[in-house]
Amino acid sequence: MSLLLRNPFPLLHSISLNFPKHQHKRCTAMMEGSKVEATDEMKKLEGKKVFVAGATGMTGKKIVDQLLSKGFQVRAGVRDVESAKSSLSSNQNIQIVKADVTEGSEKLAEAIGDAEAVICATGFRPSLDLFAPWKVDNFGTVNLVDACRTVGVNRFILVSSILVNGAAMGQILNPAYIVLNIFGLTLIAKLQAEKYIRSSGINFTIIRPGGLRNDPPSGSIAMESEDTLFEGSISREQVAEVAVEALRHPEASYKVVEIVSRTEAPKHSFAEMFGHIKQG
Ligand SMILES: NC(=O)c1ccc[n+]([C@@H]2O[C@H](COP(=O)([O-])OP(=O)(O)OC[C@H]3O[C@@H](n4cnc5c(N)ncnc54)[C@H](OP(=O)(O)O)[C@@H]3O)[C@@H](O)[C@H]2O)c1
Repeated sequence: MSLLLRNPFPLLHSISLNFPKHQHKRCTAMMEGSKVEATDEMKKLEGKKVFVAGATGMTGKKIVDQLLSKGFQVRAGVRDVESAKSSLSSNQNIQIVKADVTEGSEKLAEAIGDAEAVICATGFRPSLDLFAPWKVDNFGTVNLVDACRTVGVNRFILVSSILVNGAAMGQILNPAYIVLNIFGLTLIAKLQAEKYIRSSGINFTIIRPGGLRNDPPSGSIAMESEDTLFEGSISREQVAEVAVEALRHPEASYKVVEIVSRTEAPKHSFAEMFGHIKQG
């Protein structure tokens, strides 16, 4: 239990890279009109301001760094502005703003301010509050989506998790699915938030990584369609890269992607990887 309190995803971390054969579903659903629209939208985002919720998290920090290194401006949403000033990189293109996703959409709309896209990398911090996952990973994300509607932001990237739809995938007895849901219905909370985003009309990319690792990338990114992967892990660096590249590729629009890292996987461009996933 002490391990669970430190990291709610221990089983996703430790699962070995033993993959089933997957069907690569070709992207056939994207209509020409929406593609043109999404391409224009992406071009407009290059170099623009992006709000990052959960900017002090292990993945959030890497997202902030990659946004800055790729020429974006960042509004870093944090719960504790003072401590974030010392933990986040100091750069003229970063503004640190207070943003607790449980405090409602009005405050979040102020925090998003003049940003033109939102990346959500929040995750509940383990505590004695059993409702924390529901408050942060479901209601918190819903609040963020509502805030986007208020300020007119139309691009939303969410870092979610593989196995969120484990029950529908026949993975109800998967130990990771059981543990993560016993611990505050974490995966179910994330799935509910995903559903909200998908019905919001906002251009979304939902990224579902396998178990997160802090070590540098050791293999290539393997990207699959939703409800495909149920094991594997990936470096947070690669998750951050996928989140930032989703902003730069129209092929990522209105998609759910599942990602792990595989040493034997061939290296593909982001356009190819996002392109082979169908819209949903
Ligand atoms: N760990 C895994 O193996 C794994 C696997 C798949 C998916 N995921 C998901 O991937 C995402 C990133 O995971 P991570 O391990 O990199 O995250 P993390 O280091 O645990 O960071 C979580 C972030 O969420 C923030 N946060 C918590 N409650 C908040 C609230 N009420 N309002 C605003 N921000 C809040 C934290 O802020 P403070 O710094 O202020 O606490 C922190 O910045 C999470 O959604 C996680 O569930 C994790």
